[in-house]
Amino acid sequence: MISVSTLTHSLGHRLILDDISVEIPKGKITALIGPNGAGKSTLLHLIARQNPVQTGVISLDGEDIAKTASTDMALRMAVVAQELGVASRLRVRDLVGFGRWPQHQGRPTEVDKAAVEKALEEFHLLDLSDRFLDEISGGQRQRAFVAMAYVQDTDWLLLDEPLNNLDIRYAKSLMAKLRNMAEEKNKSIVIVIHDLNYALANADYFIAVKEGKVAFAGETSDVATSESLSELYDAEVNIIESDGKCFAFHH
Ligand SMILES: Nc1ncnc2c1ncn2[C@@H]1O[C@H](COP(=O)(O)OP(=O)(O)O)[C@@H](O)[C@H]1O
Ligand SMILES: [Mg+2]
Repeated sequence: MISVSTLTHSLGHRLILDDISVEIPKGKITALIGPNGAGKSTLLHLIARQNPVQTGVISLDGEDIAKTASTDMALRMAVVAQELGVASRLRVRDLVGFGRWPQHQGRPTEVDKAAVEKALEEFHLLDLSDRFLDEISGGQRQRAFVAMAYVQDTDWLLLDEPLNNLDIRYAKSLMAKLRNMAEEKNKSIVIVIHDLNYALANADYFIAVKEGKVAFAGETSDVATSESLSELYDAEVNIIESDGKCFAFHH
């Protein structure tokens, strides 16, 4: 479990996160949702320890992340940021290979190499594996970064808007893979996501953030309602149930 307790974060004089306390369950998919600028990426960066906590405590499986060694964090948590820094002269295979660095510390074994090849295959990247990152499309690059995080094989996987740029086939395939990771391998996944239908279909748990505060959090079926979502986005959202599945209609 990730436990966020009384987390407050400012940038300059602006309060970005305001007294956030929330728990993220283990072995589940958690959708982190909310309007643009709500603070989702800031929260994710803090959980991933990419920025230091100013006020409050974040603990990972009971351990304060501020006191966890970086090497230990890298073995427990993989992250795909919203803005993908592109080291342009890097080939797809090399990028994915970097994902194994925490395990092999620069000396890849056959196991590491096999894991990279498997990830390239699973993310439909084999044909692109020798291409440079700045010579492929945004969606293809997105998949390469997700594959890099996937190959780390950590218990926790944090993804900031990973569906950006993905067409329906790859978006569906990624969500199915995340479900499989949670169900079959007990991986814990946090995904920042704007597509409510993918979130409703795949997330076990929702955390909604608005203006730096938690608007609501809980099991998907308990908290994702027409009322809660319409209020969250200041826009009409209707949740309709059909065939035992929930759909969000907003136009
Ligand atoms: N480097 C920064 N300096 C100042 N404000 C920032 C910076 N980065 C983000 N913000 C502000 O912090 C708020 C939260 O941003 P962010 O966490 O990226 O939101 P979200 O991911 O929910 O869209 C926004 O109001 C944004 O303008
Ligand atoms: Mg963001």
